[in-house]
Amino acid sequence: MRVSDQAFIDDPYPTFAAMRAEAPVQWSDELGMYVALSYDAVSQVLRTRTLGRIWEDFAPGSAFEQINLIHRHALLEMEPPDHTRLRRLVATAFSRGHVERLRPRVAALAAELADDVADAGSGGSAVDLLSVYAEPLPVAVIGELLGVPRDDWPLLRPWSNAIVKMYEYDRSPESDAAAEQAASEFAGYLRELAAVRRTRLGDDLISDLLRVQDADGQKVTDDELIATGILLLNAGHEATVNTTGNGLAALLQRPDQLTTVREGLSDPAVIAAAGEEMLRFDGPLQLFERTATAPTEIAGTTIEAGQKIAALLGSANHDPAVFADPAAMDVTRDPNPHVGFGLGIHFCLGAPLARVEIQTSLQTLLARFPALRLAAEPRHRPEFVIRGLEQLQVTTR
Ligand code: HEM
Repeated sequence: MRVSDQAFIDDPYPTFAAMRAEAPVQWSDELGMYVALSYDAVSQVLRTRTLGRIWEDFAPGSAFEQINLIHRHALLEMEPPDHTRLRRLVATAFSRGHVERLRPRVAALAAELADDVADAGSGGSAVDLLSVYAEPLPVAVIGELLGVPRDDWPLLRPWSNAIVKMYEYDRSPESDAAAEQAASEFAGYLRELAAVRRTRLGDDLISDLLRVQDADGQKVTDDELIATGILLLNAGHEATVNTTGNGLAALLQRPDQLTTVREGLSDPAVIAAAGEEMLRFDGPLQLFERTATAPTEIAGTTIEAGQKIAALLGSANHDPAVFADPAAMDVTRDPNPHVGFGLGIHFCLGAPLARVEIQTSLQTLLARFPALRLAAEPRHRPEFVIRGLEQLQVTTR
């Protein structure tokens, strides 16, 4: 496995299959950590409490002040007891009707974006579904969720794009500097937004994060509020864009699967099953690291304290021990216990919202364009951890 090799990035699943057949857990010289490949090993990595998300500041600290600040206070980078406290507060704020509030907005936004696709594709020209349809939707949804004014939505995606480059293994001084700059601007923006909300609370999530307190009166701190806003945009956006992009590309390449979805377009259960298979078949998030806080055995291999192990979600989701014919896309797969949203204490907090977005965008697009077809072979971006396409060129007539 060479994570910088374009052939591996284009299709990592045969490499995963060959490695998984050798051993469920292996050492990677390239990553300097163990990798878990089987469904069972990945599940254990995500559930074992002596394997934690232990945040280490990016160095040098002087170059990454804001990047480090927004991660140190983020739910995703914490372990109990801090994680337990903050997750409870954020989950409480999230559960105050935001998914229900956003459901009709997601449908309206998807319909608006489908109009843009129709305009761009009129006259038979090719349209990039990624930039015209898949990318704007999750950004708009997070904008609505956080109560960011619509005029400012265009700021969000470039910030998020720049920050998530920090999670790849082939960073450059330019991408590092852009990430720090983006973190600084984004944090500043959210601080101002929170200050405005404090004067008049609304029905958005920032307002609910300012309202919630736990049984002993503890509230979300200012830094946690900023870090949560940024985490929600980053976590909630890149993964959703690329689930839609990867999934639509896979469907458009498989006419039989596309027909099955089209025939069930008015049946929410068919769309839901297709959405789950998109997450399993070619998921957007391939790797999550954990660090051992004590010697921990996973599938016969001991991870010593301080050593790292990566859960390869895409490999787990293609394990033949759990999924029959895993290399085939099957939009009717049932059950489909994929680990695309993770497992254990860090299980994706936004999964219900992500599912609404994936299902609505799929349904809206296919209903609107009965003749949707690929106009060019989709190409992957040269990044492994966040797996996505460069473009998705289609024609609509
Ligand atoms: C298809 C879309 C999505 C996928 C595949 C996805 C996947 C994941 C995964 C795998 C994790 C766990 C990471 C780990 O264990 O280290 C996670 C955590 C998280 N996700 Fe998502 N996610 C998606 C969309 C969203 C959305 C829309 C939101 C919010 C609006 C969101 C918010 C979060 C948060 C806050 C966490 C951290 C939870 C914690 O640490 O307790 N995600 N997500």
